[in-house]
Amino acid sequence: MADIVLQTEEGSGGIVIDDDWPGYSLELFSYPAHYAGDLECVVVPHGVIMDRTERLARDIMDDLGDHDIVVLCVLKGGYQFCADLVDKIKALSCNSDRTIPMRVQFIRLKSYLNDQSTEDIHILGAEDLSFLQGKNVLIVEGIIGTGKTLKALLKHVEAFKPKMIKVAGLLVKRVPHNTTRLPHYVGFEIPNRFVVGYALDYNEYFRDLNHICVISESGKLKYKM
Ligand code: HPA
Ligand code: MG
Repeated sequence: MADIVLQTEEGSGGIVIDDDWPGYSLELFSYPAHYAGDLECVVVPHGVIMDRTERLARDIMDDLGDHDIVVLCVLKGGYQFCADLVDKIKALSCNSDRTIPMRVQFIRLKSYLNDQSTEDIHILGAEDLSFLQGKNVLIVEGIIGTGKTLKALLKHVEAFKPKMIKVAGLLVKRVPHNTTRLPHYVGFEIPNRFVVGYALDYNEYFRDLNHICVISESGKLKYKM
C-alpha cells in the first residue's frame, strides 16, 4: 500500500503503522474479560497513545501558545483523546511561561453502522455554532476514516466564520481515494482496518477498552446490528 501518501500542510503525518504490522498479541496486555475473543490484536497500546498525545500537546502549544482557543470535541469517538489532549495542554500551561486559554465545546456526529460509513452524516446537538465566530478553533477527532465526516464538519464549522481552524486527529486511516485535507496534528497513520477502543466503538461497544485494537470477525458478528 505504498501508493497512498498522506501529507499534512504542516507537521508530520504521525507515527506510521504499516499494513503488514501484525499488531501485538492480546496476551501481552490486560483488557476487559468481557471482550475475550472479540479482538484480533492490539494496534496501539494505551501508554503509546498517551506518549504521542503528550507530544501533540507540545506541538499545539508551540503553534498556538498565547492564543485563546475553542476546543471542539467530536463525540463520541473523540472524547477520550480530547480529554487527554486537553489535560496535557493544561499541564504545559502550568509548567511553562506560555499558556493556552481553552474553552471546550462538544459536537456529536454519527455516520457509521457496523463497520461501514453511511452516506448521511448527522450533526447532532450544537447545530448552532455561532459562538465560533472570530475564534481560533481546534477540532479534535478520534479517527479520520473516509474523510467524508471531517469534510462535512469543516464545511459546517467554516460557515460560522471562525478566525482559524486547526484539526487534531488521533488516528488517520490509509483509505484509498481519500481526498480530504488532513489534520494539522496526527497521532498515528494506520492501515485501513476497523479499530476499536480508547472511545472508538463498533455499534457503541468497545469504548470501555484502553488500547486501540483490531476487532475480530467473531466480535463483528457478536455485536452486529
Ligand atoms: N473504528 C471506529 N470508528 C470509526 C472507524 C474505525 O475504524 N473508522 C471510522 N470511524
Ligand atoms: Mg462510531
